[in-house]
Formats: sequence, C-alpha cells, structure tokens
Amino acid sequence: MQRYAPVGDTNRHGAKTVTSIDENTAERSSRGKSIVKHLFATLEKSCVSLPVVFDVYVWLYRSVVANEIDLGDVGPTDGVLNVGCGALPFTAALLAREAGVSVYALDQDESVQSRARHHLARAAVADRVEVVAGEGTAVDATTTIPLAEVDVAVVAAQAEPKAEIVTTLRELEDGPDRIVVRQPRSPFESEYGRLPDAFDPDGTTSQPTVTFGRSLLFEA
Ligand SMILES: C[S@@+](CC[C@H](N)C(=O)[O-])C[C@H]1O[C@@H](n2cnc3c(N)ncnc32)[C@H](O)[C@@H]1O
Repeated sequence: MQRYAPVGDTNRHGAKTVTSIDENTAERSSRGKSIVKHLFATLEKSCVSLPVVFDVYVWLYRSVVANEIDLGDVGPTDGVLNVGCGALPFTAALLAREAGVSVYALDQDESVQSRARHHLARAAVADRVEVVAGEGTAVDATTTIPLAEVDVAVVAAQAEPKAEIVTTLRELEDGPDRIVVRQPRSPFESEYGRLPDAFDPDGTTSQPTVTFGRSLLFEA
C-alpha cells in the first residue's frame, strides 16, 4: 500500500494536495450552523424502530454506491473505511453486499453504534461490517481500525471537515490508497461542508441525489 504525498505537495499523478488554512477554517466555521444536517442525523437515529426506512435508504442509494464502487475500483479483496456511517449505515451495508468487501464503519457519534449494528444484522452483513466509534480527522495508528487492511475510504456527504478528513487519511503511513468523497451540491455546501477546489480529484462520478451531485476520487 502506498503512502500519500504530504499536504502542500503533488502526488505521483501530479494532483494538487494543497489545503489553505482559510479554507479549513471556513469549512469548520459552518459546523454548528447545520440545521438540515442535524435534521437528517436526528431522522436517522429516530428511525431505528422502523426497519423499512433503512430498507428504503438501501434501495435509494444502490446506484450511488454502485457508482462509487466503479469509481474507486473496489473489489472483494479490498478493505473499506466508511467515514460517517450514521445510525442507518446504508453505504456500509451496500459496500459489503454489492462489492463483497469488509467495512470499518466509523462515526464520531457513539450513540449511533447500537442502532447501526441492529440494521447491519438485519441486512445480514454484520459479519463483514464493524462499527467503530471515532473521528475521521483523528484516524491513526492508535485507533482500533487495522489500517493495513484499509485500501479504500468512502467519506459521507455529511462528514466534516472534509479537507481535514481527506488530509488525515492521505497522511497515514499505511492508510487507504483510494479515497472517495461525496461533494455536496452548492445549496448544501454550508450545511455539509465542501471539499475545497485545491483538492484536485483523480476521478469523479455524477450522482443522482438531491444533496450531492458528485463523488470525487483521490488516489495515492
Ligand atoms: C447522518 S449520517 C449519513 C451517512 C449515511 N447513513 C450513509 O450510510 O452514508 C452522517 C454521519 O456522519 C457522522 N460524521 C460527521 N462528521 C464526522 C467525522 N468527522 N468523523 C466521523 N463521523 C462523522 C455524523 O455523526 C453522522 O452520524
């Protein structure tokens, strides 16, 4: 597994990895203001007693995750880190089911863990998805996630600050060699946090959702 170029450098494909402090600060300042994001997260948490809601999300997102499996060239031998799995971890479930991968489903909110595990068990993928509490900006060798087993990261549209998450993942000694990030559409940028343009993707795919129109790929 290859290491990423440091921030402020270019990677082996010539992709920019520059992040300005202002961009990070601006992205971080949108935290706390996010009413829509809070609403979706609360909705996710409150729907655990309604299994049909999870099933609907899985159905709605099947083409989104299929596009990301293609974009990231995700195969059955890959290990995937899903940053921001939520209480309804439909992305992690679809990755496990459709790509046949093992997934570490990370969320900073410890209260989503038991709900997430409940849905994963119902979806019959609990043996391939491990729910882990933690912060996407603080993934390192000390976390319980065995980084050597992580080849691909998929970052949720609502996970933030995206610049910091991507930079953290890129700088890991033994981290993912492909990072897929959902880039919110402009009406949702201030709510969800946008990855700054200085992050020049190695690939993109269009997405049919209201909240994010593209998923971006960054390679080592
Ligand atoms: C509401 S969920 C949506 C994800 C959706 N369930 C899926 O499967 O794609 C977004 C989650 O991202 C988590 N999150 C946001 N920023 C994060 C970060 N920096 N690290 C870890 N989790 C984060 C939130 O706690 C929230 O539960």
